[in-house]
Amino acid sequence: MTTTLLPGAEQTRVTLARLYAPIAADLAEAERIFAAELRSHHAFVQEVVEHAARLRGKRLRPALLFLTAQACGSVKPAHRVLAAVVEMIHTATLVHDDVLDEALVRRHAATVNAEWSNETAVLLGDYLFSHAFFLAASLDSTLACRWIGRATNLVCEGEMMQVHNRGNLDLSESDYFEIIRGKTAELTAVSCRLGVHYAGGDEATVAAMDRYGRELGVAFQIADDVLDLLGDEATSGKTMGTDLQKQKLTLPLIRLLRSSDSDLAARVRSILSQPGADTRRQLRPLLEQTGVLEEAWGYADRSIAVARSCLAQLPPSVARDHLDQIAQCVVRRAI
Ligand code: IPE
Ligand code: IPE
Ligand code: MG
Ligand code: MG
Repeated sequence: MTTTLLPGAEQTRVTLARLYAPIAADLAEAERIFAAELRSHHAFVQEVVEHAARLRGKRLRPALLFLTAQACGSVKPAHRVLAAVVEMIHTATLVHDDVLDEALVRRHAATVNAEWSNETAVLLGDYLFSHAFFLAASLDSTLACRWIGRATNLVCEGEMMQVHNRGNLDLSESDYFEIIRGKTAELTAVSCRLGVHYAGGDEATVAAMDRYGRELGVAFQIADDVLDLLGDEATSGKTMGTDLQKQKLTLPLIRLLRSSDSDLAARVRSILSQPGADTRRQLRPLLEQTGVLEEAWGYADRSIAVARSCLAQLPPSVARDHLDQIAQCVVRRAI
């Protein structure tokens, strides 16, 4: 049984430093490429870009790309470019997501929409998306552009389906999973696929690591959705409770709304239909007393078990071991 305890920022930092140790130099190089590529001679554009790049996130997608590459052979120059590309795409989705969620805090700083405006954030997101493809097109083949283009399309589809279903308190579990498979799991899957392919891995390994990244992405989003219900802004560094404020149903809430206890289901429906400052506090005891959090963690556990089983396709190595540990940390919410 996994725990619903959420980690402190310092614990996350220490855990990530350990998990990323085999690829620390590659991550540093990807970050250098990221910053150097996005330089603008317009002072305002440069200021906004620097704001978005200054505070590092967990760099999970570059780490998956490098570790899968290392597990299949070695990290090549193309991987360092692609790691910067996937982090650019990820950052663009977050900048746009914060507009959609009207979030004020991201990575312990003001969001671009809060610091400047929605217009600036929309344009910065576009700047990051277009630059990611400009950079990916510097590689020898168009394959990376096509894979990343397709994945980004599916991320956008996931976010669009989520926006479309705002306020839909009858959202089905299968629709919820379709949304998170798009908005989150596509990018973790393509990061792993790129890592394997550009290291010369065969088709079977590409497919296995795609599955690893996909299942890990699903579990990661389930954990993030629990964090949105229970976590705090000081630790997570981002605005909490936006799923509730925007009436985006997540797995524990879908389960509560489907409860066989019709009074409970009606109460939850009433709380969710009028979101306000008190919504999280009202829901907390219901989430904790009914077992829906354990059910959500159970689902994440099963996704992670599948992800870990995919690693059998790789030969034993330090990198494989770290991919395994990352998967376990996602469900322990240790990152
Ligand atoms: C946030 O992703 C969006 C989700 C998919 C849940 P991360 O939690 O990886 O964000 P950063 O990059 O570490 O800030
Ligand atoms: C993930 O959804 C957003 C993307 C994958 C683009 P969330 O809305 O849950 O992400 P956070 O919690 O704001 O980071
Ligand atoms: Mg959000
Ligand atoms: Mg979230």
